[in-house]
Amino acid sequence: MKSAKSWMIVLISGVLLTGAALADSFGMKGFDGWSAEEMTLLSSMRLSELAPAPVDPSNGYESSPAAVDLGQRIFFDRRFSGNGTVSCASCHQPDRQFQDGRPLGLGMGTGTRRTMPVVGAGYSPFLFWDGRKDSLWSQALGPLEDPAEHGGNRLAYAHVLKAYYRADYEAVFGPLPDLALLPKEASPLGTPEQRTAWRTMSEDARREVSRVFANMGKALAAYQKTLQFRESKMDRYVDAVIRRDERASRLLGPSEKNGLRIFIGKGQCITCHSGPLLTDQHFHNTGIAPYAAGRPDPGRRAAFAMVMNDEFNCLGGFSSARPEQCEELRFLASDDRAMEAAFKTPSLRNVALRAPYMHAGQMPSLDAVVRHYAKAPEAAAGHSELNPFVLSELDVRDLVAFLGTLTGDVEPSRR
Ligand code: HEC
Ligand code: HEC
Repeated sequence: MKSAKSWMIVLISGVLLTGAALADSFGMKGFDGWSAEEMTLLSSMRLSELAPAPVDPSNGYESSPAAVDLGQRIFFDRRFSGNGTVSCASCHQPDRQFQDGRPLGLGMGTGTRRTMPVVGAGYSPFLFWDGRKDSLWSQALGPLEDPAEHGGNRLAYAHVLKAYYRADYEAVFGPLPDLALLPKEASPLGTPEQRTAWRTMSEDARREVSRVFANMGKALAAYQKTLQFRESKMDRYVDAVIRRDERASRLLGPSEKNGLRIFIGKGQCITCHSGPLLTDQHFHNTGIAPYAAGRPDPGRRAAFAMVMNDEFNCLGGFSSARPEQCEELRFLASDDRAMEAAFKTPSLRNVALRAPYMHAGQMPSLDAVVRHYAKAPEAAAGHSELNPFVLSELDVRDLVAFLGTLTGDVEPSRR
């Protein structure tokens, strides 16, 4: 039997232990120069905290391996274009972070915005810089019929699918419609001739061709959803800090570490570039000047009408979702003035590898980006959400150095 005294010791040490454990779990103890509060922020940035991408109820095929495979082949196939020269991969190049390094996308013509890297796009409730599409599959249909991008039309694509992908398409989506009596080219959006051809088709034929087109998008989305960011130096550092591993301090240099401190501290970068993908998936006006002074871009503000009127949205006839599953769309605010010239917060993973920056490549370097944030100029249209802060020349260097620690591999990168 234990004496009263030894029971006391057990009890007291128990209280002490619990106290220490509590202090620990509430993060009251710091490590490697970070306070407990900062460690909570750091922890939220690591890739190991990333949950699987949410299931898209509007795409019933996204987890089908055969759809992934078909989507991958379509992604790289230039036959899906008006002149046989453009594929998704022309702009979304696998060896360049699935973008093209240009200020403005270049397909059959020049676009008005910069090519976005598609890795991680499966986490975005709204796609494009302005969020005018509400799913990855309906997004894919945009460039396919955009005269400046693929410049083709949905009926021509259905013919290509029938000629080259019939068995693979039908294995995933069921029989292709009979196209023999239909024209070569037709679309409700294309050239005047293509639009006339579209109008002459029966309503049933139009619906069937649009369904094939939607299915192309669903296969492309299934493929893009498999693209993943891999660990960066920042992740390895933060993982070590959270484990309180003494080797942590060797994983990031003093300059990079100071940059990280600015990122989560006075720079307030983490208010928008939050979570493991370093984006809040929202839209903000950050006072980026339009690409051409005479051509303002309304950004998010103009996107509401577009996504609501889109025949390929979550509530439309080609969606696999029940209406109650389309929450993002049903609860979208219609007239939010704060959204004037607001653009989607991009992920900062691998950002150092993909200059130029911003929605129309307005900034040539990370140095220019960082200086923009410190200065926080007024917006040409709408109101910038940024607040200026003091950044020394060394701070600029350090913040840029930190952004360089967000680089890791992308997998799978090619076929
Ligand atoms: C001519 C170059 C070009 C081609 C070809 C192209 N894209 Fe894009 N992509 C862009 C540009 C530019 C944007 C941003 C446009 C905007 O916001 O208005 C973009 C945006 C995207 C996005 C949005 C990412 C996000 O985070 O919101 C996805 C996904 C995407 N493209 C996939 C595709 C797929 C799939 C194809 C092939 C069907 C394709 N793209 C063809 C240039 C291109
Ligand atoms: C109010 C939200 C917000 C804050 C705060 C913020 N960002 Fe951004 N960031 C954005 C948005 C939105 C864009 C895209 C803007 C555009 O293209 O018009 C962006 C773009 C960027 C880009 C360019 C990425 C690319 O692919 O083009 C970098 C780099 C960047 N931010 C870094 C930072 C850093 C570093 C900080 C802190 C000093 C910071 N951001 C603070 C919202 C924010």
